[in-house]
Amino acid sequence: MSEQIQKEVQRRRTFAIISHPDAGKTTLTEKLLLFAGAIQIAGSVKARKASRHATSDWMEIEKQRGISVASSVMQMEYRDCVINLLDTPGHQDFSEDTYRVLTAVDAALMVIDAANGVEPQTRRLLQVCRARNTPILTFINKMDREVKAPLDLLDEIERELGMAVVPFTWPVGMGKTFAGVMDLRADQMRVFSAGEDRLRNDDEIIAPLANPALDERFGDDMLDARNDVELVSEATPAFDSEAFLAGKQTPMFFGSAINNFGVREILDALVELAPPPGERSTIQRVIEPTEKKFSGVVFKIQANMDPAHRDRIAFVRVASGHFERGMKLKVVRSGKELKPNTVVSFLSQRRELLDDAFAGDIIGIPNHGVLQLGDTLTEGESLQFTGLPFFAPEMFRSVEVADPLRTKQLRAGLTQLGEEGAIQVFRPMAGSILLLGAVGQLQFEVVAHRLEHEYGVKARITPSRYTLARWITCDEADGGERELKRFIDANQHRLAHDAVDAVALLVDYAHELRAIEQNWPKIKFHALREHA
Ligand code: G4P
Repeated sequence: MSEQIQKEVQRRRTFAIISHPDAGKTTLTEKLLLFAGAIQIAGSVKARKASRHATSDWMEIEKQRGISVASSVMQMEYRDCVINLLDTPGHQDFSEDTYRVLTAVDAALMVIDAANGVEPQTRRLLQVCRARNTPILTFINKMDREVKAPLDLLDEIERELGMAVVPFTWPVGMGKTFAGVMDLRADQMRVFSAGEDRLRNDDEIIAPLANPALDERFGDDMLDARNDVELVSEATPAFDSEAFLAGKQTPMFFGSAINNFGVREILDALVELAPPPGERSTIQRVIEPTEKKFSGVVFKIQANMDPAHRDRIAFVRVASGHFERGMKLKVVRSGKELKPNTVVSFLSQRRELLDDAFAGDIIGIPNHGVLQLGDTLTEGESLQFTGLPFFAPEMFRSVEVADPLRTKQLRAGLTQLGEEGAIQVFRPMAGSILLLGAVGQLQFEVVAHRLEHEYGVKARITPSRYTLARWITCDEADGGERELKRFIDANQHRLAHDAVDAVALLVDYAHELRAIEQNWPKIKFHALREHA
């Protein structure tokens, strides 16, 4: 293994922010970029969002609904570390996309609105992180408001997460009397002052925490905070890096993103606590990030990010090796060779041409249908990364084109949107009407909108009787392909192919599925498909 690769991997940190809408993810993202020096003036993330709205057709739907449909990647340098921040769409209808983004990170930052505590969307995202044992850092935001008592928050998070919470900072006061946070490890207090959009480096620090000047200045709030800390230090375990890395403990920080307060502590924690890229599993073997040869996996495809280009970008998480522009890559699924010359990285807010990348980095490869979600890219070795989830849809619609002459465009559009993971497209074995499957209602609306604006197809999307889908397989020991064929022959009327030609069973009712499962004990029915 080369020393350079080793060094570069060690300094990578790749994470995503998970939160319920409105908890402050956009604000914190912006402040992280500000503190890392990637932007000079806060407001540009939002401004960029706004300008995208103004120029992009399909983002129109995002504007109308005031939610973030797309997710993006930002890279910044801080204290000699390269930090990759993957944005996740907050709306629950897009959780499928979010789940896949979470497979590409090594840690997650959970942002909680201190007034609301743990909210539904955060809970769902947490479950995904928990299932993957992703280390989680916790940021309690909006301490400048009247919020829940910190002890109650700690208790709530501990219960919801099912893991120990270890406070690294503790707030003194809240709302109008928010005085700042005690840094329990550095034994000092950082005094709050309402922040500006620009970065300042003149926070007032008072040390040590035992300093009576603190009690004089902050009175009862200080006393309460001291009592809390005493209670907490008895009741919570010491921070244990191994437990954190195994997803069993989370360090907790308090702050106010909008006021730039507590943001530096988060960046420091990412650098000091969050792990560099680790090994990743393929069907064939385990891949070390420091291996010399490049490998990576497509975890997201997005069309038309830049309306001027009308391109489709495959987001690839680098798993190992050293990526250099112009190098030849093999798409393992198809055996095709790819020589991307225009690979982009996502330095701060601009898209830039990328020269090289290492494990943990995200590279964007413009492509025209050559890459699909879940694809593995290598320098030649046949590997297939595991763990990229496709969830069985929970809602179905039939889709037809209003003008039959545009059937071809409809199919082309749906193929692309299907490959992107924006929607799941099923081709029933019997009949010619295509089915759309989604996890959330909003996905149908986005697809109808995009079909019209990007492919010039007015689609008729009508209710379908199906409510459940299951992918089917059969183990070799149970008869393998032969048994599968027997099942397919007998059930043609309720089977369909998905975007990657995997066969799925579609049923109207849950009890129908149970009956089929009983009749076909050798067939396996999956609610989750892991890779293409
Ligand atoms: P999101 O991406 O998680 O959806 O949240 P976002 O950052 O957009 O923040 C949601 C709202 O919360 C915004 O107010 C934002 O200004 C506010 N906010 C974020 N951090 C803090 C904080 O530390 N303290 C307080 N008091 N508010 C905070 P908004 O009125 O919805 O938007 P805007 O008009 O301020 O842009």
